Amino acid sequence: MSASPSDALSSTTSVPSSVQDVSAGLRAVGYLPGESTALVSYLATRLGKPVLVEGPAGVGKTELAKALSKYLGRELVRLQCYEGLDEAKALYEWNYRKQLLRIQAEASGTGWDAVQEDIFGEEFLLARPLMTAIASEQPVVLLIDEIDKTDQEFEAMLLEVLSDFQISIPELGRIEARTHPIVLLTSNNTRELTEALKRRCLYLWLDYPSVEHELEIVRLHTPDLQESVARRLVEVIHMVRGLDLKKPPSIAESIDWARALVLLGADDIDRSVFERTLSIIVKHRTDLDLVAERVGVKLDGGILGRVGSG
Ligand SMILES: Nc1ncnc2c1ncn2[C@@H]1O[C@H](COP(=O)(O)OP(=O)(O)O)[C@@H](O)[C@H]1O
Ligand SMILES: [Mg+2]
Repeated sequence: MSASPSDALSSTTSVPSSVQDVSAGLRAVGYLPGESTALVSYLATRLGKPVLVEGPAGVGKTELAKALSKYLGRELVRLQCYEGLDEAKALYEWNYRKQLLRIQAEASGTGWDAVQEDIFGEEFLLARPLMTAIASEQPVVLLIDEIDKTDQEFEAMLLEVLSDFQISIPELGRIEARTHPIVLLTSNNTRELTEALKRRCLYLWLDYPSVEHELEIVRLHTPDLQESVARRLVEVIHMVRGLDLKKPPSIAESIDWARALVLLGADDIDRSVFERTLSIIVKHRTDLDLVAERVGVKLDGGILGRVGSG
């Protein structure tokens, strides 16, 4: 028998040799990837291109980056985006306080030139996530989370970093990447990202999973929930997603609901259990009314009961 290619996986900084490797590796750390997720992740590790992961909230975008870092044995460096995020918080900034102290500590006779040379050295630099990621000795996984919350100016700056893997600091010169990170950008799709950014990236659209896939995810997170209840839960969730809601429940809500049902000791999801726990999966006033009316009734009639028992 020849050595299995997955032997390589046991080492900490591995390069996966197939899509199956990645799929198995992600599963081993508790993330159940769909086919395209495993494929794109594999390509990202081999081609060294950033991945743009887009999709509704709560479908496993952030978790994918965490899982990849665990599986590949790489540190996770995370840049959480928000409105108004700027270079100082994303790339680097000068540690003004420390610089001031340094200037004050100098004997008054020291010339400005000497002090200046000193205070614009690496010691006075505060590295923010993007710089940390490219300056790291060991290759990391860089998560740029919720990029759609920033503006296009920020995107342009990011493009530069992602294409050159270097950062220019006027006072210090160029900082070039020591290692190349695996980069994941996530977006909840609240605005259209620029074509330039998309061109640079591999693209992964993560959507709500199929019933079978979600059942597997829910069972992984809540092994204590009876399988029959878990299945019914996922079927109800899918039914709720089918309604025209302001905010359909995500995988995160399915898992929360499953955990709550375990705590409550529920061994079925009937109308009464459903109505009592509805606010775990639906969080808008108008949605609550709609769901209670449309789904609650069905649970009463036992329509779902037949589905689960086959
Ligand atoms: N494929 C998956 N396998 C295991 N857990 C998952 C999967 N997809 C989502 N989850 C779980 O769903 C929850 C929400 O995922 P998260 O990554 O925070 O969503 P997003 O970043 O897309 O808003 C997390 O608790 C995560 O563990
Ligand atoms: Mg997220």
